[in-house]
Amino acid sequence: MMVASETCRNAGATRGGVFALARSRVTAAMPVRTSELLRYRRAKPESEGVRVTSIRIELLNESHRAAVRALASDETLSHTAAPTPARDADIDQLLAHNAAGPRVVRTFAILDGALVVGTVTLKRLDAGDNSAELSYWVGTEYHRKGYAFGGAQLAVAYAFDELLVDYMHAHFLKVSNVGSLRVLQRLGFTKDPNKEDMKSEGRFAARFPDDYWTFVRLNRPADIAGAAKGYARRWDAYMTQYCGGRASCFELAEELMRQRLQGESLRVLDIGCGTGAFTARQLGIDGPQRHVTAIDGSATSLLIARHVIGTDPRVSFVQADITTDDWAAKLPPGSIDAAFIGWVTHEVPPGSLPRLYGNLARVLRPGGVLFNVDFMDALEPGFRGLADEYRRHRVTDEFRTYRARFESLPPIAAAKASELPARTTPSIYHAAATHVRHLHQAGFVEAEAIWRYIGFSMVMAVR
Ligand SMILES: C[S@@+](CC[C@H](N)C(=O)[O-])C[C@H]1O[C@@H](n2cnc3c(N)ncnc32)[C@H](O)[C@@H]1O
Repeated sequence: MMVASETCRNAGATRGGVFALARSRVTAAMPVRTSELLRYRRAKPESEGVRVTSIRIELLNESHRAAVRALASDETLSHTAAPTPARDADIDQLLAHNAAGPRVVRTFAILDGALVVGTVTLKRLDAGDNSAELSYWVGTEYHRKGYAFGGAQLAVAYAFDELLVDYMHAHFLKVSNVGSLRVLQRLGFTKDPNKEDMKSEGRFAARFPDDYWTFVRLNRPADIAGAAKGYARRWDAYMTQYCGGRASCFELAEELMRQRLQGESLRVLDIGCGTGAFTARQLGIDGPQRHVTAIDGSATSLLIARHVIGTDPRVSFVQADITTDDWAAKLPPGSIDAAFIGWVTHEVPPGSLPRLYGNLARVLRPGGVLFNVDFMDALEPGFRGLADEYRRHRVTDEFRTYRARFESLPPIAAAKASELPARTTPSIYHAAATHVRHLHQAGFVEAEAIWRYIGFSMVMAVR
C-alpha cells in the first residue's frame, strides 16, 4: 500500500462555478504514481439543485472493479464509450493498460467521495502528433449531475498538465449522444475542422442506425509557467531518485552554512543552478536574508528556474559558462559568503576545475564556504559496477518522456536555441581527492570530503 501526497496547485473558474483542482493525500489500494492521483472539488451546487461535494479521478484499480461492473452492466446505459467495461475481461484489459508502459491508454475511476460513478479514459497516448483521445461514461443514475463534466475536466487537466499532450480529441454520436456534446462544449472542445462527420458503422450502426460520429478537438492552452513548474517537479523527483542522498546533502550544506556564517545577510552562489532547487530552498530558510546569484549555461534551465522562483529581488539569474572567467569577472573579489555546486562538475571538461575553483577562491570572502556534491569516484574498482547498477535501477522513463514533450513547446524550443554549445565530453567522475587537491591549489585553506553515499561525495572547502 502506498500513501501519496502533494499540494494544491491549480484553480480555475468555469461557467458552473469555481472549480478547485488539487492533488490530494490519497491512500491507493495498489501502487500508482502520485501524479496520477487527482482530486476535484466543486465549490458550488449544480443548478439542478444537486450538491456535488467532491469529484475526483483515481487511476482505475482492483478496488473499483465491482462498482464499475455493476454500473456498466446497466441495460439502460447508452454504451458509446467503447470498450464498455461490462465484463471482467474488459476490466482486466483496462487494468493491464494502466499497469503497462509505455503509456498508451489510461483509465480513471470517477469518484464522488468513495462512490464510483463512472470512468474516464485517455487513449492513443502514443500518437505521433502528441495528442490524446478522451472518452468517458457515468452510470445512468449519475447522469445530469455534473459527474461526466467533472471527471472529464480532471482528465483533460491531467493530459495537458501532466502528460503535456498538444491537443485532445473526442468523438460522439451526433443524434444519440447530445449529452456528450454538451459536456465537450463546456470543456472547450470545438468541431475538428479537418474531420468530416462519419456514418456509424459496425456494432454502432446496428445499435444507432442513421447516426454519425462527430469529431471535436481541444488545443493545449499555452501555459508555460505550469509546464515549467511541472518540469521542475519532475526533475527534482528524478534527481532525488537518481542521486541518492540529495535531500541530506542540501540539509547538511544548509546546516553548516548556518553554523559557519553569521551576519544580517548572506550572498550565495548557486553554480550550475539548473531548475533552481538549491536557490529555492535558500529563499525559504529563516535567518540572515539570502541574496542568491544562480548561474547556469542552459537558457531552458534558467527559464524554468525563473518560473519556479518567480520575481524575487533576492535572486539574480546569470547565463554563463562556469568554466570561463566571465561570470566571476562581474563579482567583486571577496563579495560572496557561500557557494553551492550541485551535481555539475562531472559535466565540465577535464582541465577546467583549476579555473573554476580559482574564480571561486577569488569571489569568496575569507572564511566563506564552498560545497561541491557530485559523482566522485571514491570506490575501489570492484565496487564501481555497484554504483553504476544502483543508478541504472533508479532511472525512470517517465521523466524522459515529459522532457521530450516539454522541449517541443515553442517558447522552450526558442530558449534552447540560445543554450551554450552542448558539451562534447563524456561525464567525468573526478575523485573527491582530486577536487580537494584543486581546491587547496586554488587557495582554499581547508578542503575535505564531508559526506559520501555510494558513488556520490560532497566536498566542503573554507576560503
Ligand atoms: C545535473 S544538472 C544539476 C542542476 C542543479 N544543480 C540541481 O541540483 O538540480 C547540471 C547543471 O549544470 C549546468 N552546467 C553544466 N556545465 C555547465 C557549464 N560549463 N556552464 C554552466 N552551466 C553548466 C547544466 O546546464 C545543468 O543545469
